[in-house]
Formats: sequence, structure tokens, C-alpha cells
Amino acid sequence: MTMPTIPQPTYYIFKCEQSSPPGMPKPSCVSETTRSLFNHIGQTLMQKGLMGPVQLIRTSCLGRCQQGPVMLVVGEKERFMYVGLTEDKISQIIDEHIVGGKPVQEYLIPEQFWGEPQPLA
Ligand code: FES
Repeated sequence: MTMPTIPQPTYYIFKCEQSSPPGMPKPSCVSETTRSLFNHIGQTLMQKGLMGPVQLIRTSCLGRCQQGPVMLVVGEKERFMYVGLTEDKISQIIDEHIVGGKPVQEYLIPEQFWGEPQPLA
């Protein structure tokens, strides 16, 4: 008997869920005003029947705190860092990028903050 294969997600969404303790000068992605964003992503994906093809992952700092809230969208061969997120922006990203396959350029991190991958050695 052969085992059925489990399909891979088409996209992974890594949402930074780092919050700083009160009084920390460094910004972080989660504050009182942005705390709802992770649930908004999950609810939107569920409403659209995308849980499964899209895997939502809660992460700690992704190293782009000044541009937060941020999320990294990883497809089969590409990755996209979205910054300055709001619920409306996330909804648009899910509709246009995840469903439509067209990244939302205006919400991507500026090039000077997102250079080429660092070499391993
Ligand atoms: S706290 Fe979110 S990228 Fe650093």
C-alpha cells in the first residue's frame, strides 16, 4: 500500500510577532495598535479557503524592526518582505499577491533595506 503524499504549501507567510517591553527605545512589530494583525491574516486566509495552500507562521524578529510591522512571504522561488503593515494592506496583499500572484510593489521593503542574500562564507 502506498502512502498518499502531503502537498506543500504554495506560500509561507512569516509574520514577525516580536514585541518590546515598555520603555525600550528600539521599535518592534507588535504593539497595542498592531497586535491584531496576526489574527487578521489568519482570519482572512480562512475566509478565503487558503489555509493549507498558505501556511501562516508566527516568528520573532526578522531584522527589519524600523520598518515594522513586517511579514515575509515566501513562494516556491521567491521571497518578499512587506513593511508598514495594516489590516487593509494585508487584505490587499492576500488578494493581489497570494490569490492573484502579483506582489504589491508599494508595500514591499525599499531596496536599500533589502539587499542581496549574504554569502555563506
Ligand atoms: S521586531 Fe519585527 S522585525 Fe524586528
